[in-house]
Amino acid sequence: MKIIRSILEMRNLRKNISGLVGFVPTLGGLHDGHIAHLNKAKKKSDILIASSFLNPLQFSAKEDLYAYPINEKKDLEIFKNNGVDYAFLPTKEDMYQNLNSTFVDPGEIANVCEGKSRPGHFIGVATIVVKLFNIIEPNFVTFGQKDAQQLRIIKNIIKDLSFEIKIVEIPTIRDKEGLALSTRNTYLRSEEKKSANKIYQSLIMGSKLAKENNINSKFITDKIFSKLNEDPLITIEYIEIVDPITFNQVPSLSQNNLLVLAVKIGKARLIDNININTNE
Ligand code: PAF
Repeated sequence: MKIIRSILEMRNLRKNISGLVGFVPTLGGLHDGHIAHLNKAKKKSDILIASSFLNPLQFSAKEDLYAYPINEKKDLEIFKNNGVDYAFLPTKEDMYQNLNSTFVDPGEIANVCEGKSRPGHFIGVATIVVKLFNIIEPNFVTFGQKDAQQLRIIKNIIKDLSFEIKIVEIPTIRDKEGLALSTRNTYLRSEEKKSANKIYQSLIMGSKLAKENNINSKFITDKIFSKLNEDPLITIEYIEIVDPITFNQVPSLSQNNLLVLAVKIGKARLIDNININTNE
């Protein structure tokens, strides 16, 4: 595995790579969820490129940019052991040479759910992802269903900005208690982990209520709110049933609905989602 730390070097190498290039972008802080991305991408590609870049543009001043648990040595080992051919770890200085004046704005979808809780977050994500696409020119890229809104935004970017890149969706990887794997899970102390396990249980409850033909969204989200709110360690940011394309709330369930939520437990801000549908 070759480690590349500059945009120029990455571009020069890319010019000489032929065959199908798969790309797995990450912030670093790798876990088994990322390994699922690498394994899927490896199977489909001739050459696998993975990046690790803790993108400051997608964190606000009050978020955990400086606490984010990155371990470069461990991350590089994970890349190497999972078939990465080129590990791209650019510096902040190289990626954002001076102050950017050009940003990628994903539009209205960036202002609801995660975008409402984290203003500017998706402009930061969209801008770095477009930069990475331009530098790496992958044939396909993996994105996780856990970050459902991010996944939708990347699909929009690929279509709207005419990138010739396929998306390979990776289903959410969960631990044995159902908690979606996330780098931020490492912040959880043991009693907080027990509270975090309730997130998936509450999503399953939502899905069950929908299957019992409760079509009123507020009825379902109120039930989930009450269940999670009983736990003093959980602070709810939002629980919403949304249209999976616009991420706007839907008052009553239709064919295709996504239940999305964000909670804070101790130092961890956790998000998760599930598709919910009635039986009809
Ligand atoms: O999902 C992530 O890890 C990040 O948002 C991404 C796509 C690597 C962009 O920084």
